Amino acid sequence: MSDNRPANNPNQPRQVPLLDLPRQQAEFSAEIDEALKRVTSGAAYILGPEVKMLEQQLASYLGVAHCSGVASGTDALVIALRALAIVRTGKEYFSPDDEVIVPSFTFTASGEAVLHAGATPVFVDIDPATFNINPEAAAAAVNSHTIGLMPVHLFGNPCPMDAIMELARKHDLFVVEDVAQAFGASFGPSKLGSFGTGAFSFFPSKNLGGFGDGGAVTTGEEELATVIRMLRTHGGRDKYNAEHIGYNSRLDTLQAAVLLVKLKHVERLNRCRRAIASYYDQHLCGLDWLTLPSAVPGGEHVYNQYTVRVLNGKRDLVQEKLREKGIGTAVYYPVPLHRMNLFAGRCKTAGSLEQTERACAEVLSLPIEPLLTEAELAYVVQCLRDL
Ligand SMILES: Cc1ncc(COP(=O)(O)O)c(C=O)c1O
Repeated sequence: MSDNRPANNPNQPRQVPLLDLPRQQAEFSAEIDEALKRVTSGAAYILGPEVKMLEQQLASYLGVAHCSGVASGTDALVIALRALAIVRTGKEYFSPDDEVIVPSFTFTASGEAVLHAGATPVFVDIDPATFNINPEAAAAAVNSHTIGLMPVHLFGNPCPMDAIMELARKHDLFVVEDVAQAFGASFGPSKLGSFGTGAFSFFPSKNLGGFGDGGAVTTGEEELATVIRMLRTHGGRDKYNAEHIGYNSRLDTLQAAVLLVKLKHVERLNRCRRAIASYYDQHLCGLDWLTLPSAVPGGEHVYNQYTVRVLNGKRDLVQEKLREKGIGTAVYYPVPLHRMNLFAGRCKTAGSLEQTERACAEVLSLPIEPLLTEAELAYVVQCLRDL
């Protein structure tokens, strides 16, 4: 939340966007323009020095040994899983008999990446309080085909990594953390992405967002890091002597330059997001048709989204009313993965998915632009309270 803008009358209708990238751009444009100029004058556009610098700074910030920039968060998930297939099985891909447990309430890419790596996603239910994978549902889904777990730290809220890592240890499963929405969040003393193999997205709307697509994979294992780096450049240690079925999936030097600037400000922006969440928590409590989000105990939420539940089947109506008042909202996500055509005949489900279905019908994400003013937030709150 920013307080350096003129306060407006909270009764006056205005536009309050869900996210305001031009506002963020205005804040950082001088620094970013300079960084971009340095790249264009050096012209090292592919894996230039900024990429290495960003990887080192991210590894140090996240407390991991290895970080590799890739072309998107989706590629980060796919490459993490493919590298695990190569290192763990000696084969290029997993087989459809191999099962990876994934929450059904997430963005498409989480489950899609499992298919790209040759395995089968097994969709399980979420904890209704946190919207994240229910560790008990995950434990009940483990069988002799299970090879891995994919906790998705949805909306910036950490999954209960103590329970997830315990389950993984017990059954010798790998853990790929989908950290696309949770850059900078932590569980206990550790940043997310440092528990298992971490897959990050730098899509512009993320907490650390670039000027286009980008991503990164983190790992503490050297052998895995080597294969990840090979896969992102056509599967070879040497440029012209490939060993694996790889990709052209490098993080652009221009994106790395933008992200290096933004990384310096990410802690402050995450604090702004938490301040907005706490404002909503304080001012929206007590409405009997609205359930506010809760953070997992022991975790630090970074609120990529502030997602409420609108009860009594009124979600779409509330969204429409807010739209009429100029307030941007979004439904993340209206369709659970186990109901998408993409996964029909290609996935399994385990246990009831009742909480997932309920969440899809009730969720609404409110404006969370970190540079929103208190007056704008007051307007959002007032519009909701007046409904
Ligand atoms: C939970 C989750 N996983 C994966 C991704 C994929 O990231 P990208 O869009 O950078 O490919 C996203 C991005 O929207 C996401 O929200």
